[in-house]
This record gives sequence, structure tokens and C-alpha cells, in this order.
Amino acid sequence: MNPDIPVQLLGGITAREFLRDYWQKKPLLIRQAIPDFESPIDPDELAGLALEEEVESRLIIENGVRPWEMRRGPFAEDEFSKLPETEWTLLVQAVDQFVPEVAELLENFRFLPSWRIDDVMISYAAPGGSVGPHFDNYDVFLLQGHGKRHWKIGQMCDTDSPLLEHADLRILADFQGSDEWTLEPGDMLYLPPRLAHWGVAVDDCLTYSVGFRAPSAAEVLTHFTDFLSQFMSDEERYTDADAQPVSDPHQIQRDALDRLKALLAEHMGDERLLLTWFGQFMTEPRYPELVTGPELDDAELLDSLEQGAILIRNPSARLAWSEVDDDLLLFASGQSRLLPGRLRELLKLVCAADALHMDNLGQWLADEDGRDLLCELVKQGSLGFADE
Ligand code: SIN
Ligand code: CO
Repeated sequence: MNPDIPVQLLGGITAREFLRDYWQKKPLLIRQAIPDFESPIDPDELAGLALEEEVESRLIIENGVRPWEMRRGPFAEDEFSKLPETEWTLLVQAVDQFVPEVAELLENFRFLPSWRIDDVMISYAAPGGSVGPHFDNYDVFLLQGHGKRHWKIGQMCDTDSPLLEHADLRILADFQGSDEWTLEPGDMLYLPPRLAHWGVAVDDCLTYSVGFRAPSAAEVLTHFTDFLSQFMSDEERYTDADAQPVSDPHQIQRDALDRLKALLAEHMGDERLLLTWFGQFMTEPRYPELVTGPELDDAELLDSLEQGAILIRNPSARLAWSEVDDDLLLFASGQSRLLPGRLRELLKLVCAADALHMDNLGQWLADEDGRDLLCELVKQGSLGFADE
């Protein structure tokens, strides 16, 4: 996509301007980001999802058995009828994986890397409902889906910001409001990480939160070193064949530290492994149990496609690709696959994967590596047959 073309979703500024001036820096209110937006899901359907075992959901009741009572789903149907008239919120995670029309909304965010996008959470709030003043460690786009919500934004926060005592929620003890707006369907508010915010439902309201993935530095270090350690032998150890006589045998000297730094740098600086780990990590599915596929061989796949079958991305799968030297890496739902450079266009097609069929796959089905790749992705569950 051209980064210098005005984007309706961003209120007419370009992707380049948005990234330069707002992304991870400051909030942006966009009136009618999606003009005349009609929510593809209604409150009853959202509540229906919250009954399902595989869907992550929460209820937050401001004046429940304790202030800001939180209950985790799945919920029983009669639980909703026992709720008060006002001041509660139902939050349902990753609705994009269960409702294709919600997943389609993400097409509007193609100016950002898809592997950075986490999920679309949808909240339904009764009048006065809110999850309290808080901050998130991630960027978020808050799209108003139905009804009105009054948003207040406040100060930048960090781990030292005082919180209310609460076992499950991180509600700010001190919210210093700086700006506020009432959002109507189609309006959207972008918030950078750590900015305090507080959205209160004016009437029955649905709010869509497009959230992002950003591993913490601690996660990067622990997960990457775990990954690296698989490739290391027990024989590779701290060595000091260059050691000099010591003046005090109890002292750890500078040269020991230098040897350790060299050992770390040798492994941590391995870009190929870093990229492999990162791609796998960022494409790990939220619900791995929903990414499974059938046993299938190349001939059966070809046969199905010849008979008109269409392959689409499993909505629970995550795909990305990258290049290493002359080769390519495809990341599919937490796994990686090294592929020859000539498959570049196929990889792009697979990652965009609106629909793969005889017409657009054509030449790639004649390529053994191309066929194998498609077959593996179906077996792994990242791609599936549209009619299944
Ligand atoms: C909500 O939809 O009620 C909460 C979204 C958020 O504040 O991150
Ligand atoms: Co938030």
C-alpha cells in the first residue's frame, strides 16, 4: 500500500504521517473513521460467544459482590439475566477468529504489519458500564460499534502508577483527565501504550478494540534464550584457555566478564536464529488448539483444487514471511519453514490468502516446493478448505 495516500480510517492523513506523528506517541481521535459503520455483531451474538468454552471472556460489574467484580467466562445463559440494569461490561477477546465480518475489519489496518496486530476484542456495556480508569501496555484503536461511549484520556503511566487494590484488574487510583470525547458508531480513538483512559457507556454500547502484540524485553530475552539453547551442546561452556596467573584467587576479574560477553554476543548476535525465533513467536496463535488440519498428500490437494476447492487462511492462524540471504522464511502459526527465493510471490499470496484456488495458484502447483508448502500448511491447519 502507498504510505503517502490519505487513509479514510485515519481521518484523511497518510499512513506515513500517522506513523510519524501519532503511532506510539500520542492519541488521535478520528470522527467517522468508518462512515456509517454498522456493527456486524449485536450484543446478543456477543453474549452468545461468551457462552462458548473456547472463547475468552470477562464480565466486569462496577458494584458487584465487591467493587469492580470480575468474572471469567464461559458464562451460563441465565447469568446475563441476573445482571443489574446498568454499570457492567462484557468483554470478549479475539472475536475476529469467530466472526469473519469482524476479521474483515482488519483489512483497514493494512498500513501496519499484520504480525503486530493481536486481536479484535469487543465489549458490550450497559449504560454507565466501564472497566475503570486504566492503562494498557499496548497500542489500541477503539472503534465505536454501536451506541455511544464517553472517553476520557489522562496521564502517561508506568509500573509505579498507583493502582486500586484488586486481585485481577489494574485500575488506576489516580486518574488525571486531560481530554474527553463522546464517540458514536464509526468514530475511532487511537491510544498509544501507557496512556491512561476511561471509557464509560452513555447507552447500550459496543466498542471494538484492535489490540497489538509487543513482547516485553523480559519475554524477548527468556523466550529467545530458551529457543537458542535447543541448538547448543552441553560441551559448549565457559572457557579460559587464555587465563593469566591471578593475584587474588577470590577475585572475579574483568577478563572473565569479557569472555562471558563474547560468548553471549556470539549467540545473541545470530541474526538468522533471531529472525526465526521472532517470526515463530509473533505468529503463535492465541488458540493453538484451533489450528489443526487433516492428513493429506500433494496428490489429494491437487485433486481437490482441480475440482474447484478454495483454500483460505484459518482465522485462528497467523502468517508472516521474511528473507534470509537468498532464501525465504515462512512463519505459520508458530512454526517456520525455509524456502527457496523463487517462491517469493507464492509466499506473499499465501500470507494475504483471501482465497487460493486453481486460478491464482496455477503455476505454483506445478512447482514441487510450492505444492509441498501448500500441503504442509493445510496439514498444519494454517490453511483450510473454504467449504469445510
Ligand atoms: C472497553 O471496551 O470497555 C475497554 C477497552 C479499553 O479500555 O481498552
Ligand atoms: Co484499555
